[in-house]
Amino acid sequence: MNGWRWGFLLLVYAALVLKTGAVEHGRTQPTERISGSAGDVLEDNPVGRLKVFVYELPSKYNKKILQKDPRCLNHMFAAEIYMHRFLLSSPVRTLNPEEADWFYTPVYTTCDLTPNGLPLPFKSPRMMRSAIQLISSNWPYWNRTEGADHFFVVPHDFGACFHYQEEKAIERGILPLLQRATLVQTFGQRNHVCLNEGSITIPPYAPPQKMQTHLIPEKTPRSIFVYFRGLFYDVGNDPEGGYYARGARAAVWENFKDNPLFDISTEHPTTYYEDMQRAVFCLCPLGWAPWSPRLVEAVIFGCIPVIIADDIVLPFADAIPWEEIGVFLDEKDVPNLDTILTSIPLDVILRKQRLLANPSMKQAMLFPQPAQPGDAFHQVLNGLARKLPHEKSIYLKPGEKILNWTAGPVGDLKPW
Ligand SMILES: *[C@@H]1O[C@H](CO)[C@@H](O)[C@H](O)[C@H]1NC(C)=O
Ligand SMILES: *[C@@H]1O[C@H](CO)[C@@H](O)[C@H](O)[C@H]1NC(C)=O
Repeated sequence: MNGWRWGFLLLVYAALVLKTGAVEHGRTQPTERISGSAGDVLEDNPVGRLKVFVYELPSKYNKKILQKDPRCLNHMFAAEIYMHRFLLSSPVRTLNPEEADWFYTPVYTTCDLTPNGLPLPFKSPRMMRSAIQLISSNWPYWNRTEGADHFFVVPHDFGACFHYQEEKAIERGILPLLQRATLVQTFGQRNHVCLNEGSITIPPYAPPQKMQTHLIPEKTPRSIFVYFRGLFYDVGNDPEGGYYARGARAAVWENFKDNPLFDISTEHPTTYYEDMQRAVFCLCPLGWAPWSPRLVEAVIFGCIPVIIADDIVLPFADAIPWEEIGVFLDEKDVPNLDTILTSIPLDVILRKQRLLANPSMKQAMLFPQPAQPGDAFHQVLNGLARKLPHEKSIYLKPGEKILNWTAGPVGDLKPW
């Protein structure tokens, strides 16, 4: 047999062995590959694909704020702090701004907590303006594009609209100075003024170690059909139940509180994480709260998320095929939830469970310390890398100005 034919046969043989191996592997540990609309990108390594310059700001914009309230490190908006730490030691960081693709401004705008731990966004706009003023006068890069090659982490309720009440947030809109920047935020809802096109939606921060200590053996049967723990009504702020989670949670309670297939309650048991590993479906009635940790928990514990939140944009939606992994339910269809879930064919459920079992899926939802390949930090970088190269049109002509520094509420213009 001549050389090339022999080589060809070897190749075919190798491919067959690989394929059989994959099947065998699939039998013992059933997982499935994950591809989103951007392709098979969850496991991409961003190193070498982008360079990020981290502005050095006075510590009053970041470290000092954290010193005042270390609770910010465990808060669901803590991604703004961990992202900063991650970038400082990341191989994608460059100390030479001339070669940077992206510029990052480390400003902790959500680390102002009430005694109860709720973040207050009232100072955020002034603080952000102050930081932008500083970078734009000390470095030439902001003025070059007016922020179009800059990204900001704004994990607050309604992102860079900086208000926790939706009406007020809509009225404010995205801080005018951030209109050209890429915003990395937990808030994601289609056709909403607080979500700019091109933003990167991230999961809320959930403490990784805390969840890992509650893992139970993988083979534990899933004997709970539907599971949910949390508030159904926000009695203090919304006694009618129409506004909180846009009424979706209230509707779940009213329709299914006595249904034996539904294990739902306001009581938060000590076995909460274990229970999720014993459940087939975990409700994520996110309504106005896309930053709720429920989705992250469901993914980590392999419980199929049932997403009840019209128009939601879920984390890393171009890398993760959420439609295939979860179940999406229109808010108006909550009364039919039992019929909808019981009529999903078994093979569809099994496929969703295999997708959820993919370790890269879980990794993408977490901000671990130290960072690990494929985690949420890396997904943010991959998302930024996919936006490169920048279009030439982002660079302004000499003398050209697009942003209006005096636009927005007058109160925002006061110095910080
Ligand atoms: C950038 O533009 C602002 C406002 O037009 C100006 O005040 C500032 O000095 C400029 N920055 C640099 C580094 O030239
Ligand atoms: C900037 O915004 C302010 C406040 O809305 C407005 O009065 C002013 O005319 C705007 N300037 C430009 C150049 O559009």
